[in-house]
Amino acid sequence: MLVLGIETSCDETAASVVRDGTRILSDVVVSQMEIHREFGGVVPELASRKHIQAISLVVEEALERANIAPEQIEAIGVTRGPGLIGCLLVGIATAKGMALALGIPICGVHHLHAHLFAALLDRTDLTFPFVGLVVSGGHTSLFHVKGPLDIELVGKTRDDAAGEAFDKVAKLLGLGYPGGPIIEEEARGIEPGTLRFPRALMEKDSLDFSFSGLKTAVLKSVEGLFDVKQRNDRAGSFHPLVSPVRLQEARNEIRVVATAFQEAVVETLVVKGLRCAEKYASEKLVVCGGVAANRALRERMTKEGTRLGIEPVFPPIRLCTDNAAMVAARASALLAAGETDDLGFGALSRW
Ligand code: KG4
Ligand code: ZN
Repeated sequence: MLVLGIETSCDETAASVVRDGTRILSDVVVSQMEIHREFGGVVPELASRKHIQAISLVVEEALERANIAPEQIEAIGVTRGPGLIGCLLVGIATAKGMALALGIPICGVHHLHAHLFAALLDRTDLTFPFVGLVVSGGHTSLFHVKGPLDIELVGKTRDDAAGEAFDKVAKLLGLGYPGGPIIEEEARGIEPGTLRFPRALMEKDSLDFSFSGLKTAVLKSVEGLFDVKQRNDRAGSFHPLVSPVRLQEARNEIRVVATAFQEAVVETLVVKGLRCAEKYASEKLVVCGGVAANRALRERMTKEGTRLGIEPVFPPIRLCTDNAAMVAARASALLAAGETDDLGFGALSRW
């Protein structure tokens, strides 16, 4: 079956054609990263405006690269939520228009379930049940995936997502946006251990996460380092604390802070992810979402997982960040199980 996937939940406009839920025929992603960079984060209003400009061209490009005429598409999958409402509506309206014009079924897809199904695009040997960790800019969630129609949320963050913490800490350290890849780069070659930040909710049976305390600990440490105080004492506002010149002078200290921060996030994700796999007796742990691109996380998860007989499954980096192939893959599984939506469904900011 040929399925067109459409993804517009945040700042990527994406479309993809996938055959039989596993073969990617095209995978087009237009990122708005450069537009949002100057604001240090995604500006929702701006994002939806950019989606509406890009979406038709992105869909056309996906069909062209797959060498498929619109009439050959057999079904459409589109991200329904969670995400930014204005952004989701662009993808949903496009998908509905096409489904109506072509007279084909449509499936509204859960964005986090789609992230999990990215693993099935790469590893066709992956069988149910398994556990999955979705770790991105908006989410840090653990799922027990019992079957295509039986996906249970078993742990989540109580405050910030891990990627959000990377972005906020990078901003605070004056390193730019998006924070994850920049912090990873800064931490490269620095031996962890000289500075240690606290890890939250590490008690034995917890599968939940919390990263706001860590963020505040980084803030306090930088305040101490430069003898400055965050404006209004509001840890949430997270402006760069010191001038770029002072940051450059203290480059090594900043790199040590970035490394200690990354270590704390990585250790928390590794401990909770593997604990979840053990709890549900799963030999495989899918790790996906933007933060799954982090090499320190990949290395540590693989090392500790091997010790416990658990194999971490990381989709290729291109399939970890937001894309539409994962949406088409998830929709294919829903369609195969007989699930479709009528044209009345709406967008869900939370789901
Ligand atoms: O999944 P994604 O592309 O978008 C959503 O949030 O849905 O994830 C983006 C997040 C950002 O917070 C970014 O800083 C983080 O993933 N990220 C990373 C890395 N690459 C991207 N975090 C840590 N290490 C990385 N290499
Ligand atoms: Zn995502």
